[in-house]
Amino acid sequence: MSLLVKIKETQAFLESKGILQPELGLILGSGLGSLAEEVEQEVVLNYADIPNWGQSTVPGHAGKLVYGSLSGRKVLALQGRFHFYEGNSLELVTFPVRIMKALGCKGIVVTNAAGGIGYGPGTLMLITDHINMTGQNPLIGENLDEFGPRFPDMSNAYTKTYRQKAQAAAEKLGIDLAEGIYLGVTGPSYETPAEILAFKTLGAGAVGMSTVPEVIVAAHSGLKVLGISAITNFAAGFQSELSHEEVVAVTERIKEDFKKLVKTILIEL
Ligand code: HPA
Repeated sequence: MSLLVKIKETQAFLESKGILQPELGLILGSGLGSLAEEVEQEVVLNYADIPNWGQSTVPGHAGKLVYGSLSGRKVLALQGRFHFYEGNSLELVTFPVRIMKALGCKGIVVTNAAGGIGYGPGTLMLITDHINMTGQNPLIGENLDEFGPRFPDMSNAYTKTYRQKAQAAAEKLGIDLAEGIYLGVTGPSYETPAEILAFKTLGAGAVGMSTVPEVIVAAHSGLKVLGISAITNFAAGFQSELSHEEVVAVTERIKEDFKKLVKTILIEL
């Protein structure tokens, strides 16, 4: 089945379940999915019940799609995303973004857990831009002209007005919101200290294993993007060892600030 046919099929399925005209899509990363519990939920679907949809296999990713109101906005929230390192195709990894666009979203909020380069655990970092170090691109293959051009511009992938609104919300709440470049890798191995040193030289503020494919697909179709990284650890070389348990534990600590921040930003988006 072609990608376009799959998109139409899944769109029709979700609309038949009452998911109509969401304004904003939320992609909630490792440990950040509990924000979806604050949505005044109208429709909740398990990933397994959605046609053409992937499965979430990582601890800390619930695997549910939630539709409803949050901060007075109609949102489509994903508790758990699909990663390339799980063996998924990038078509599958970015399929939810295609669906958000098809259903009528005008923007997405993408969140992730990331290693800090210059930023320490517990920092919330507004993503200003990204560096794609995955060696992959989700738009390789036939272009979906209905969504966007063959050679999409990436100069303003992380929407400036959204960033300004995010900083205004952070200030209002008294939450420190750092800013930096997110460097995306495939994982699943964490980086070597030498790689982190190289990434630091390149100007990266954080490194992680998601987000870049989704944002490329979002930019292709003209979706506005707000990206926030929860820094869960110092990247390799800046601390002794890395573990997923630590990533989940630190996310647990900064979750409340993260949720407050996103809810306040949503009012303005
Ligand atoms: N590297 C890559 N991905 C991550 C990290 C990291 O240090 N922490 C959380 N996700």
